[in-house]
Amino acid sequence: MEGAGTLEVLISETAIRARVTELAAEITRDYAGRDVVLVCLLKGAVIFASDLARAIRLPVRLEFVRAASYGAGRVSSGEVRIEETDGIDRAALASAVAGGEVLVVEDIVDSGRTLGRILSHVQDLGARSAEVCTLLYKDRNVDHPFGVRYIGFRIEDRFVVGYGLDFAERYRNLPYVAVLEDRDLPGV
Ligand code: IMP
Ligand code: MG
Repeated sequence: MEGAGTLEVLISETAIRARVTELAAEITRDYAGRDVVLVCLLKGAVIFASDLARAIRLPVRLEFVRAASYGAGRVSSGEVRIEETDGIDRAALASAVAGGEVLVVEDIVDSGRTLGRILSHVQDLGARSAEVCTLLYKDRNVDHPFGVRYIGFRIEDRFVVGYGLDFAERYRNLPYVAVLEDRDLPGV
């Protein structure tokens, strides 16, 4: 498997599985009696969202939105664009979100710019409620103007890959979260 044995494992597959189960149980309790619209941020949150969705014991609708901020680097470009994947998705997202209980599923909250942008988009589409569930939360002492209701793991400010997170589109398929150091990069 790519990277196996060379990268430092930060969060094991077992720890992720246990935490996803806990988060799903919390969500199931908090939203009891209601339907949930999971809005998965492509591509990073797709693996987390698919495990989470299967562990939530409520009717779940799954929608996707794409937000690009990093490009191929390890430092945020600062600019966040929202790109529904095509015209059909735009309509599906709008109708699912309008009046819905929306839970935005994110792989990692770093500066919080991506989420801020997505949340205002979801609110503009008329969501009844909008909360965030993120696998990882980088502790950078940034004051986010919104609350992050469900957090899988708080981590230090290091660049991580795996379980959906990439570096230049690589490592998304690692079943664990690992730290990517400069020495792990070819030609750096
Ligand atoms: P933010 O807008 O600065 O919060 O950045 C969030 C997005 O940047 C995430 O959805 C990820 O795609 C990407 N990102 C932030 N930190 C990392 C990291 O450590 N590894 C991989 N991607 C990251
Ligand atoms: Mg990314």
